[in-house]
Amino acid sequence: MLKRTHYCGEVRAAHVGQEVVVSGWVGSWRDHGGLVFIDVRDRTGPVQAVFNPERNAELHRAAAQLRSEYCLSIRGELTMRPEGMQNPDIPTGEVEIIASELQLHSASEPPPFEVEHPGDLSLDVRLRYRFLDMRRPEIFRVFALRHRALQLTRRYFDENGFIEVETPFLTKSTPEGARDYLVPSRTVPGSFYALPQSPQLFKQILMIGGLDRYFQIVKCFRDEDVRATRQPEFTQIDAEMSFVDEDDVMECTEGLMARLFREVLGKELSLPLPRIEYSDALERYGTDAPDLRFGLEISDVSDVAAQCEFRVFRSAVESGGRVRGICVPGGAKMPRREIDALVEWIKQFGLAGLAWFRLEGGAAQGGVAKFFSEGEIAAMAERLGAEDGALLLFAAAPRRQGQVALTHLRCHLARELGLIPEHRDELCWVVGAPAFEMDPETGQLTFPHHPFTAPVPEDVGLLESDPTAARSRAYDLVLNGVELGGGSIRIADRDLQMQIFKILGYSEDAVEKRFGFFMNALRYGPPPHGGIALGVDRIVACMLGLEDIRETIAFPKTQRGVCMLTGAPSEVSEAQLKELNIRTGR
Ligand code: AMO
Ligand code: AMP
Repeated sequence: MLKRTHYCGEVRAAHVGQEVVVSGWVGSWRDHGGLVFIDVRDRTGPVQAVFNPERNAELHRAAAQLRSEYCLSIRGELTMRPEGMQNPDIPTGEVEIIASELQLHSASEPPPFEVEHPGDLSLDVRLRYRFLDMRRPEIFRVFALRHRALQLTRRYFDENGFIEVETPFLTKSTPEGARDYLVPSRTVPGSFYALPQSPQLFKQILMIGGLDRYFQIVKCFRDEDVRATRQPEFTQIDAEMSFVDEDDVMECTEGLMARLFREVLGKELSLPLPRIEYSDALERYGTDAPDLRFGLEISDVSDVAAQCEFRVFRSAVESGGRVRGICVPGGAKMPRREIDALVEWIKQFGLAGLAWFRLEGGAAQGGVAKFFSEGEIAAMAERLGAEDGALLLFAAAPRRQGQVALTHLRCHLARELGLIPEHRDELCWVVGAPAFEMDPETGQLTFPHHPFTAPVPEDVGLLESDPTAARSRAYDLVLNGVELGGGSIRIADRDLQMQIFKILGYSEDAVEKRFGFFMNALRYGPPPHGGIALGVDRIVACMLGLEDIRETIAFPKTQRGVCMLTGAPSEVSEAQLKELNIRTGR
């Protein structure tokens, strides 16, 4: 076999005169007046090879048979391209290889799409042919960045005294709020393993075991609806530390993020990162994962709305809802049809419309201005921090629905108005989430994080009387409106852990069945401990400015949890089912 001397994308004018061997796949191929030009591509990019019939007729004939995606090696002398033939768009555009030998490793059927120019081909098709898709150097760069981030992560934790421990995949359910993937046991008929939603309980038990500092780069499995930021199996950077408080875990995480940003992106983070109270984040941004790259903060004007003449506002407040607004500085110039489009746009969140007016020459103009007294206008303008020339937009709705609508409106406006600075990254912590939430559908108390999160000590008294008012010692790391990670200080007290389970509606029996092993470990001197998990797929997507985390995963799954490449999940044989004591409904 011809032995490679250079990667295709790495040859430069400095190598001219050398004999080189490159290996890869045929990109484009052209026959120009007898000369055959082949672009050979590997993971670094393309280089052009030329076959001249006057130099070697047989070789030229062979080259003329080459087609897209044939796999080959080419030997030849590197030369400068003739004047006028240079291509400044690619790094190897000044040079070409005058081929003297060709070794064809394998032919290819005509590919279903042009590998280098997939255009707006659907991701599903690209994923079915992922092996062709990833021949594109851009895709390789995504994987290379991911690899680099993971290597840096390992080094960082190693330098800071963390031990990497592998925890089991065939295990018991770990509640993180999703459904479990189950694996039937052959040896214990009728029983199942669950794939871990996270290594949460194992890492806590490692702390009880005295490991002191643990980390793992680990797959987690959650059967939940797939979205742009969610996959059924995904990767976490998972860590846990003993004898620490919130500040220690956050500082350690900030150190890792700073290292990743510096060494992967060449960006300096300014530390410590800002911290926002959860309740503040909901008030000002309508979400617990705020995008801080732009203003457009949300303000509550329910008190003014409660007293006013405007029926939509008053009745919203009377029925327990809220009226909140966003001020768009300079927005008074926005044409009426664009405002109308916003009013239409908001309807997807179940609102009948948006109320608005402009502030011009010290007075309110247009929209719902006529329904308000001067005093009310002044009060609302002040609350929103509005100055002359602003457009004020208001949504009246039940609390949660209004938050959802306004947080989307805020981001939509920022995009439409070009308010998001390119290359700006805004990381923050959101702290003090409630220990419990009321599930609006079932009316049951649930946990926003997981049931092992410690409550804030001064709120322990609220656990029985007013559980949703108790804050937790949780912290979420948010980048540009995406939750990158979350963690907490844990409950290291068996009685308190049992109390929390009971508030969540578990009987002692149920606790014993599901978490008996963990409750048992808590009897034997658990240390104070806490930790965090960061989503690798989301970090990589954010670093590359990709919307969909599937782009960062070699073999991701579709909306329906299907692997386009293998076709999984798929049926299994009767014999296999029988061995597992399983009867299916098919
Ligand atoms: P949590 O459930 O918040 O915490 O998960 C931590 C981070 O993992 C990422 N993530 C996901 N990424 C892709 N697809 C998914 N379906 C998905 N689900 C979660 C997110 C998220 O912020 N055991 C706790 C951590 C702890 O308390 O230490 C946990 O798993 O980036
Ligand atoms: P209506 O009384 O339904 O004709 O609505 C009067 C105005 O209120 C229109 O400009 C609507 O866009 C606006 N509006 C309707 N519903 C809401 C809402 N939930 N919040 C704010 N404004 C609304």
